[in-house]
Amino acid sequence: MKHIFLSIFTLVFAFSVYSQYSSEENFNKNWLFYNDIAEGAEQPKFNDTDWRKLNLPHDWAIEGPFDSKYDCRMGALPVHGTGWYRKHFAMPASSKGKVVRIEFEGAMYNTHVWVNGNKVGHRPYGYIGFEFDISKYLKYDGSENVVAVRLTPEDYSSRWYPGAGIYRSVWLRVDEPVHIAMWGTYITTPTATEAKGVVQHETTIVNKSSEDKKVKVLHTYFNAEGKEVAKNSEEIIAKAGEKTWSGTFTNILNPKLWNVYQPNLYSVITTISEGEKVLDTYNTTFGIRNITYTSDGFFINRKQVKFNGVNLHHDNGALGAAVYKRADERKLEIMKDMGVNAIRCSHNPPSREFLEVCDEMGILVIDESYDCWEIPKIKNGYNVMFKEWGERDLQDMILRDRSHPSVIMWSIGNEIKEQWQPTIGWKVAKRLNAICKNFDTSRPTTAGFNSYPTAYMNNMAQQVDIAGANYKAVKYGELKENFPELALYGSETSGVASSRGVYHFPVEKYKKHKSLHVTSYDIVGPVWVFPPDIEFHFQKENPHILGEFIWTGFDYLGETSPYGGLDNIDNDGHWNSDYPSRSSYFGAVDLAGFPKDRFYQYQSQWTTKPMIHLMPHWNLGKELIGETVPVYCYTNCDEAELFVNGKSMGKKVKGKDLTRRIVDFLRYDPKHFDSPYLLSWDVPYQPGAIKVVGYKNGKKINDKEIKTAGKPKQIKLSVDRNVIDADGKDLAYVTVEILDKNGNFCPLADNQVYFEVSGTGKLVGVDNGSQISTESFQASKRKVFNGLALAILNSNEGETGTIKLKAKSKGLKGATVLINTN
Ligand code: GAL
Repeated sequence: MKHIFLSIFTLVFAFSVYSQYSSEENFNKNWLFYNDIAEGAEQPKFNDTDWRKLNLPHDWAIEGPFDSKYDCRMGALPVHGTGWYRKHFAMPASSKGKVVRIEFEGAMYNTHVWVNGNKVGHRPYGYIGFEFDISKYLKYDGSENVVAVRLTPEDYSSRWYPGAGIYRSVWLRVDEPVHIAMWGTYITTPTATEAKGVVQHETTIVNKSSEDKKVKVLHTYFNAEGKEVAKNSEEIIAKAGEKTWSGTFTNILNPKLWNVYQPNLYSVITTISEGEKVLDTYNTTFGIRNITYTSDGFFINRKQVKFNGVNLHHDNGALGAAVYKRADERKLEIMKDMGVNAIRCSHNPPSREFLEVCDEMGILVIDESYDCWEIPKIKNGYNVMFKEWGERDLQDMILRDRSHPSVIMWSIGNEIKEQWQPTIGWKVAKRLNAICKNFDTSRPTTAGFNSYPTAYMNNMAQQVDIAGANYKAVKYGELKENFPELALYGSETSGVASSRGVYHFPVEKYKKHKSLHVTSYDIVGPVWVFPPDIEFHFQKENPHILGEFIWTGFDYLGETSPYGGLDNIDNDGHWNSDYPSRSSYFGAVDLAGFPKDRFYQYQSQWTTKPMIHLMPHWNLGKELIGETVPVYCYTNCDEAELFVNGKSMGKKVKGKDLTRRIVDFLRYDPKHFDSPYLLSWDVPYQPGAIKVVGYKNGKKINDKEIKTAGKPKQIKLSVDRNVIDADGKDLAYVTVEILDKNGNFCPLADNQVYFEVSGTGKLVGVDNGSQISTESFQASKRKVFNGLALAILNSNEGETGTIKLKAKSKGLKGATVLINTN
C-alpha cells in the first residue's frame, strides 16, 4: 500500500518526501520474455538478445491460441509450461549500503528468482505477493545487473483459468537499513462512531544495521479532501537485526465513516526518522468503520447489511489475468449496477488494485486463501503446496490486506475436502483460524462448506466465526434449529448456467445442448444448482441468514460446466470432450461484461430505482410462429402489462401472479417452484413487437419494447468513458452493436467486425461473450455474438490527444468513436 495516494495534496506531499529520502520504483518496464525452457537463463551473461521485449503485468496464456490440447477447465489456453523473464538494470553508487528489495505482487506460478546468477528465492503460490532482499547480490558501480525469473505453471493445477506469467506489478525498493517493512502498517478502527474514530496503527520497523536505533514514528492523517485531521508520534528503539512494532492510538473527531453507501476514505503518511534524518515514509489508505455480527445479522457501523453478493474469479476476460485497475473497476461498476454490495474472491487472494477499487466503491470483500488443503481436487492443485506453504500464504494474505476497510472476512478455504474427514478437518480449521486471529482479530473468519450435514456434525464449520454454505438454501431452517448459535450465509448460491441472448424452445431442462450454448431461462446447470428464485425464497423464510453470494457475477475463463465434464470429480483430461466450449456459463454477466437476462432478475430484487426487463428477444424463427412461448419480465415495479403486437395480454401483479419454474436439483422436491420473483405470460409467437409497461402504486413508471429486427445494416459504437488517462494503464471499453436499417437491435447477428485504431492508444483486447469462440482475444477483428462485441482500448503512456476507433463490416454501415486521452 506504499504507493496508494488519496488526493493531489497528499500525492504531492508524499512524492516530495519520497524523492528525498527513500525510493521505490515501479519495476514493470523493459523486461525480456521467453516462453520455453532456457538452459542457463539465470546467468547474467546468458544471450537474451532475441527475447521478446515487454512491460509487466503480463499474462502469456491469454495470447493463445486456444487449442483442444490444453485443458478446457483451465480455459483451453497455454497456461502451463515454462516462462522466463529477464531485466537488465544499473544501480547508482548511492544505493550501496542501503537495503534493496524486489517485490512481486503475484506471479503465476512456481516463481524462482536469480540476481546476477545468484538464487535469491522462490515462491510457489501464484496469488500471493512476496519480496526478496537482493542488496548483497547487486553491483553498484553503474555496471549492469540482471534479474532472472523462471515460472513453471503446471497442467491440472486449477479448476479455472489461472493465467500465466508475471501478471501483477513488480517493485524495486531502495531503503535505509532502518525502514518500514513490506505491508508494514496495520490500521484498524476499534471505535467508529459519528462522534469519534479511534485509529489503532501498528507499524513494523525493520533494522538491518548492527546497532539499536532510536526512531521517531510520526503519523499524519488526512481526510479525503487532503486536509490534515490528526497527528501522532512516538519514539521507539528499533533493535539491531530485528523487527520492532510501534503502536499508537489516534482520535479523529466527527469522522466521516466508511460504509457501503458512502465509502469515505482517509489516508495516513507514516514517517520514521532518526534525529533530523527521515529514514522512510509509508502511505496507507483506510476507512473508519466498525463491523460486528451475530447469528442473526452482519452490521457495519451498527446498521445491518445483507450480503447481495457475487463470487468472482480473478480474470478480466479478454485481458486474462494481467492486472489493470480499470478492468476491475469496470467489472465492479457493472456488479454495483446489478445491486451487488459484496464480493467473495473465489478462491484466492485478489490483486491489490481490486481491493483498492472495493475500498473506493464501498464493496464488501471476503478474502479467500485457497481452494483446497491437503486432499486434492485435481492433481496439481494447492494440495501440492499446502503442507509447506499453507500457513505462510494465509498469513501473508492477511498481512497484505488487513488495513482495507472493504475486507470484512478471512476465508480459510473453499469446499475443503477435509470436511468429510471426521477427525482431521476441524483440527486443521482450528489451526488456520488461530493464524487468522494471530494477525487480525478485527474481522471474523469463514470458509465455504458444501458438505451437509457432515461439516457441521464433525465440528469443522464451528471452527470459523461465520460459516458459508454452498448451495444449501433448503437447509437454512434445519441449520438454525440444530445450530442456533451459528452465523451463516450462502457462500455460493444459485449457480445456473446460461449464454447471453440464447433461448431454446420448448423451455425444458437438458444436460447439454448441441449448440454448446445454454438457454437463458435459468434451468440448466450442475445437479446442485437452482434458479435465483429458490435462494430468494429461502433467504426470506430464514431472515437470520446474513445474505448470499451467487455463483457467479461474471463468466470466467475455464470451468465449462455443463460442458466438458462434471465438476469436482477427478476427471483430469475429460474436460475437453466438448471443445471449443472453453469458458464458464455461470455468470449473470458474460465474459465481455454484457448482462444476461439473469442480471436483471437480481437487479429487480436488489435495487429500488425502477427497472423493467423483458425476455426473450422477438426474432425467434419461423418454426415458432403460432407456438406458445413464455415471456418473462424482471421488474421491481408492482405490476406490469404485456402487449404483443399492440394487443394486451393482461396486467400481472408482482408477488400475486406466480410463475411456475422448473426446478430440479439435488434432493429438492417438488420439481417446480411457483415464483413471485418475476412476471410471465405465455403468448403465441408472432413477429412484430412485444412491449411491457411497469406500474407502481397504479402509476405508469417505465416500459420496455422489443421489436423483431430486420437484416443487419449498421454498426453502432458506444464507449464507457469518453476521456481516459494518458498513463498507459487506463482503458476504454467500446460496445459494438449490430442494428437493422431502422435502428433495431439484431439479436442474432454474427457479423465479422474489423477494427482500426489510430491516435494516442491501442487495441488490447476484443471479445463477444461467446463461451465457444476460439478467435484470438488479441486480434483486430471479432465476430459479434448475438448482436454484440467488445473492443478494449488502452492509452499510450504520456500521449495526450485522441484515440480513434473505426469499426467496419462487409455489407454494414461502419461507425467511429473518439476517446480523449488526458
Ligand atoms: C462449487 C465450487 C466452485 C464451482 C462451482 C460450480 O462446488 O466451489 O468453485 O466449481 O461449484 O458449480
